Amino acid sequence: MITSEDYSYLSTLLRTRSGLALGPGKEYLLESRLPPVAKAFGFSSVIELVATLRAGPHRDLVKAVCDAMTTGETFFFRDTIPFDLLRTTILPELADRCRRAGRSLRIWSSAASTGQEAYSIAMLLSDMGVQMSGVNVELVATDFATHALNRARRGLFTQIEVQRGLPERYLRQFFINTPDGYRLADDVRRRVAFRELNLLESFRSLGQFDIVMCRNVLIYFDTTTKKDVLERLASSLMPGGYLFLGATETAFGLTDRLVRLPDIPTSLHVRREDFEVIEERLRVGTLATSVA
Ligand SMILES: C[S@@+](CC[C@H](N)C(=O)[O-])C[C@H]1O[C@@H](n2cnc3c(N)ncnc32)[C@H](O)[C@@H]1O
Repeated sequence: MITSEDYSYLSTLLRTRSGLALGPGKEYLLESRLPPVAKAFGFSSVIELVATLRAGPHRDLVKAVCDAMTTGETFFFRDTIPFDLLRTTILPELADRCRRAGRSLRIWSSAASTGQEAYSIAMLLSDMGVQMSGVNVELVATDFATHALNRARRGLFTQIEVQRGLPERYLRQFFINTPDGYRLADDVRRRVAFRELNLLESFRSLGQFDIVMCRNVLIYFDTTTKKDVLERLASSLMPGGYLFLGATETAFGLTDRLVRLPDIPTSLHVRREDFEVIEERLRVGTLATSVA
């Protein structure tokens, strides 16, 4: 059993290192997820693990504890609407914009987990073919959890994973059924560059993006952390860029720099200074002209 002192210590550690706001009464989460970490580091119990953590700096152990407490729930084409919007409207518009500006189109999946979100976009891009021709697309995917990224990089999925959200046609077109699982075609896998990144730390070095996906991760953070991450995400958007949050997430009341686009059944935000132009284009039924 974890003592209330240890619980409070671990809660603070998780909040400051990975942003996870555990809240009260989540002892069962620690008790179910930490025993494998204790075992891997040679401790006889979670209590011994916590005692070691409290005794001094132990970077690898802190990282392993934070990793174990992340929730990597994800699936291909999650929520459908963001991907429909990307395919029908946003990617063609941005491709046009980038072609005219002679620059790359930049996309960031910022809490990528095991890669399904980024690979869904990669498959869309391959499927869109000629619509995306002449445009170099940089697709960057980052996550805090090392184990999730290692899986993502392999591009190997179980039968259950490919049955969640993936259209049958895409399964046939982009995956090879191997004895190890369903392997994503190399040309699609190579479209995505995976990197380890903690959203609590600066992501300035990644540069700015036309599309940022930050879905189903802010829900785990407290209000102060949400505000901080959203402010910095606003800075990571190019002029006329789009920020997708999870279906239950919003920037409303957390930052003035982002505005949610109304009348779109998904949590899609743009920079406040771009809002009028983009909203007007949505009202006349197209996003097809450049914002910049
Ligand atoms: C529930 S998954 C969401 C995956 C995907 N975005 C989706 O919507 O399907 C949340 C992911 O956020 C990651 N995460 C949690 N805290 C993070 C942090 N501080 N920085 C970066 N990623 C983090 C977790 O490792 C996990 O992979």
